[in-house]
Amino acid sequence: MQAILGAIQGGAGGADLGALPIPEHYRAAFVRRDETDMFEGLASADKDPSKSLHVDDVPTPELAPDEAYVAVMASSINFNTVWTSIFEPLPTFGFLDRFGRESEWAARHALPYHVVGSDAAGVVLRVGSAVRNWRPGDRVTVHCNHVDDQDPTAHDDSMLAANQRIWGFETNFGGLADLTVVKANQLMPKPTHLSWEEAAVNALCNSTSYRMLVGTHGARMKQGDTVLVWGASGGLGGYAVQYVLNGGGTPIGVVSSPAKAELLHELGVEAVIDRAAEDFRFWSDATTQDESEWRRFGKRVRELVGDDPDIVFEHPGRQTMGASIFVCKRGGTVVTCAATSGYMVEFDNRHFWMKLKRLIASHFANYAEAYAANRLIDQGRIHPVLSAVHPLTEVGVAARLVHRNAHEGKIGVLCLAPGEGLGIDDPDKRERVGEDRITLFRRLG
Ligand SMILES: NC(=O)c1ccc[n+]([C@@H]2O[C@H](COP(=O)([O-])OP(=O)(O)OC[C@H]3O[C@@H](n4cnc5c(N)ncnc54)[C@H](OP(=O)(O)O)[C@@H]3O)[C@@H](O)[C@H]2O)c1
Repeated sequence: MQAILGAIQGGAGGADLGALPIPEHYRAAFVRRDETDMFEGLASADKDPSKSLHVDDVPTPELAPDEAYVAVMASSINFNTVWTSIFEPLPTFGFLDRFGRESEWAARHALPYHVVGSDAAGVVLRVGSAVRNWRPGDRVTVHCNHVDDQDPTAHDDSMLAANQRIWGFETNFGGLADLTVVKANQLMPKPTHLSWEEAAVNALCNSTSYRMLVGTHGARMKQGDTVLVWGASGGLGGYAVQYVLNGGGTPIGVVSSPAKAELLHELGVEAVIDRAAEDFRFWSDATTQDESEWRRFGKRVRELVGDDPDIVFEHPGRQTMGASIFVCKRGGTVVTCAATSGYMVEFDNRHFWMKLKRLIASHFANYAEAYAANRLIDQGRIHPVLSAVHPLTEVGVAARLVHRNAHEGKIGVLCLAPGEGLGIDDPDKRERVGEDRITLFRRLG
């Protein structure tokens, strides 16, 4: 991989890069099948990803005709790597085994180790014989929607495909590595004004937020809408509030510290609720929700923006869903893609049906949506929310920070890139877009 890195840094062309041998092994971050019970008996919060995530060499898989090898310059920590590394709610080896039974090529994925990671920015090294649109030397970002396009269910909205998977979570050979194997239909052009690590952190969270708020399958935000965004300085929320601002809406950002509130103000979000400082407790005990707290929360939203939210951008799950359904405007929409604090959600159905609200389920994004979201980054209309950078050797420490909610925005991971700030192809464009806007989370996070 060092020869490949040297060639990339030396500006080698596609033909030269394509002629370099693909190494038989590469460095990767992975969990081990024989360690899936290592945290048995511990509470979730005490499970430490730095104990289960290993960084070592793994064999390079063979390339299928519809795939590409990508030299990964940088990647990022997503919450799904936290789930994999604490083996919750299930060890991800079950996903790999089920996938492995699908076809001869899929069988490569069922291994004693799972290489994790669902984001990457890097350089295409080789493409399979069926790949048309990409070639060695292309500088790319990778989105994580892994779909078999021979399945008819994949051809309306590929997120409805029967065999839709998230790369690096439900498949092996993820992006937290020096090399990855991806389907050609996961590739997108790298935004030219960003460094490797800035380009690497966007695809998963930015595309998810785009589908939830902007795309035709989500809440379809309109100009003037008020949008309540939970975790508004986190991975998803940091992009969601930018979409609301760009789309002529009013975001109400919920966070849990004064520093996060300040970050949102700098981003242009005026209405911010610090849920910790204002001590909202939607549950009075493990099984009982407190409606008076929903009402206090709703009152606070009205004080800030003079209205109930047209859209609630929901992902914390059990802790907040009751409040989200309650505060959502009559006829409004709650859009959800996750349940960080628990899957078994409860809400008072009277507040839902009597006020004709809608609940929309959303999951990542199809290729068209991910491409549109990537284009907005490339146009400098949506900015990376990169707040910290770690080398691949510290992947466990970085995942632990995300698990403990001790981060803002996204944490980038340097894979082949030997340092920060490399890979910017168009410095003039960077200047036009504005260094301050691109690096806001890095400076204040
Ligand atoms: N379905 C999909 O395609 C998809 C895609 C991306 C992510 N996800 C999932 O979405 C969730 C969030 O992902 P992310 O990348 O945004 O994670 P993140 O960077 O950790 O941000 C989540 C934010 O949620 C807030 N939060 C956490 N616990 C909360 C609670 N009990 N009540 C209220 N707010 C809470 C925190 O903000 P404050 O503490 O500041 O309030 C935190 O910043 C994860 O579960 C992830 O797996 C799903």
